[in-house]
Amino acid sequence: MLKNMRLISYLIISIGCSFISCKYSVSARHADKIDSIPGRTWWKEAVIYQIYPRSFKDNDGDGVGDLKGIISKLDYIKSLGVDAVWLNPIYQSPNYDNGYDVSDYYKIQPQYGTMQDFDSLLQGLHERGIKLVMDIVVNHSSSQHDWFKQSRSSRTNPYRNYYHWWNAEKGKPTPRYSFFDVNNDAWKYDTLTNAYYLHYFAQQQPDLNWENSALREDIYKMLRFWLDKGVDGLRMDAFQFIAKDTTFPPFPAGYEKNIAKYYGNGPHLHDYIQEMSKEVLSKYPVMTVAEGADTSPEDAMKFVDPARHEFSMAYHFEGIDYGKYKPNYDLIGFKKIYSYWDSCFENKGWLAIFLANHDQPRMVSHWGNDAPQFRNVSSKMLTTFVMTMRGTPYYYYGDELGMDNIKFDKIEDYRDISTINAYQHEKNTGGDLEKFIEDKKRSARDNGRTPFQWDGNDNAGFTTGTPWIKINSDYKTVNEAAEEKDSNSVLNYFRKIVKLRKNNPVLVYGKYTLLDKDNPNVYAYTRELNGRKMLIVLNFKNKPATVNTGINLAKATLLLDNYSTPPEGNSLQPYEAVIYEL
Ligand code: GLC
Repeated sequence: MLKNMRLISYLIISIGCSFISCKYSVSARHADKIDSIPGRTWWKEAVIYQIYPRSFKDNDGDGVGDLKGIISKLDYIKSLGVDAVWLNPIYQSPNYDNGYDVSDYYKIQPQYGTMQDFDSLLQGLHERGIKLVMDIVVNHSSSQHDWFKQSRSSRTNPYRNYYHWWNAEKGKPTPRYSFFDVNNDAWKYDTLTNAYYLHYFAQQQPDLNWENSALREDIYKMLRFWLDKGVDGLRMDAFQFIAKDTTFPPFPAGYEKNIAKYYGNGPHLHDYIQEMSKEVLSKYPVMTVAEGADTSPEDAMKFVDPARHEFSMAYHFEGIDYGKYKPNYDLIGFKKIYSYWDSCFENKGWLAIFLANHDQPRMVSHWGNDAPQFRNVSSKMLTTFVMTMRGTPYYYYGDELGMDNIKFDKIEDYRDISTINAYQHEKNTGGDLEKFIEDKKRSARDNGRTPFQWDGNDNAGFTTGTPWIKINSDYKTVNEAAEEKDSNSVLNYFRKIVKLRKNNPVLVYGKYTLLDKDNPNVYAYTRELNGRKMLIVLNFKNKPATVNTGINLAKATLLLDNYSTPPEGNSLQPYEAVIYEL
């Protein structure tokens, strides 16, 4: 009976008015007292859309995405309802690590266009009320940067100390692990001056020496250049690594379990960030987000505690690294991580919330289920999680379509230096190459870097040329044009939930409380602010599940559901996501 009554009221609500307009009336009834929220800022309330420029839209037919391509899609970006775009690096680069190896911080990568194109892009975004976040890669530069060319030319060159050198007559330096090196060796011997240089990432990405104030001044100058152009936000790449213990001591056994702690977090890390803040950041209305601040919540807090005047917010990796890409990760542990981090930042500081980015496989393949019958519904469920947690959502291009892992069968299809070099390492050390390829179908970064699927035409409407990386063969059905026409698509669900979040500050600022914490299948929580309360219930499994929140839903209003029929009592369908107003 109750079930039928709920079904009838659901239908009445749905008929004759769009779901979203009904939701507006709900928020009008319970208008949040937003003026009384302390510490309100645009970047806490924003939804940030990440664009991987190589793969968004190619305008000139060379198979590589470009700035004019992004410009041609500004109205699409606007239609998503997002507030800001984060662009992965677009600076001049030899592209060993797809732009994370910058050879000139003041120039645009020619494949992407010109500085004029950049200015037009920024203007086009601003005209639409959308902000721009640039990626700042200053733990390392490219080995083709002029600073490095000078630095390696002689031991007495003024740029020598822009990088970390170890003269070979002192013997071999203490080993350091490199993330992308074929031999995992972070010290590269250079015959030119008979010395080793340090590279935490690839050989072509030498680490910059932040101990040197001249280098720091050059970085600040570069930041001013972009901020003077009107850039609104900065994403600080790999930032815990900038400051190292430059005596390069040996590490204790087991250090690799917390590599960030030993590799970064040098004695002067926060002095440098505070200096940068004083010299540059504090002079602009800029949002900053630190990648790599996550050795612990306490360490992360140091980056974002407002009293310290460092960055606006930080990512933590404990969530994204959880389960090591295993298909059946334990949901209880997942809930524990997000709940713990939330509790640590409940009263001060601010975090980003994300389930994917360019360093990860696709969200739906990683955390949901990309089998045809579950792809849409589990994409929507995961999107619901990201959009209803406290923290600023960072949402990766293509996830709004439910794009999934491409799962390459052979190494030749890969473009990412980290996968290619790891494969070579495996080969050199007699590893199991078949297993390697199988594992990479779940974990490789290239899974998340394939071109955006605009339509069902050749090359998914991404390029008229040959794409730099293969396009996922499911583009005939999974594409923007098709999803525009379907009111029930992942894309249109994304638009609805972005509006829901933006119109309901309770979803931004509200207190988070985990419910039914030992439920192995369902993630349930409330968000509460100034007398408003929402309940979010998410079935993370591919089978029906029940939830026990202890909340009587008789008077609850259903705000959003990723199925077309409402839940029956406490039962949820596979990957069902429901939001109630209590
Ligand atoms: C960051 C970037 C990643 C890059 C690495 C080296 O982790 O997100 O893509 O490879 O830094 O710059």
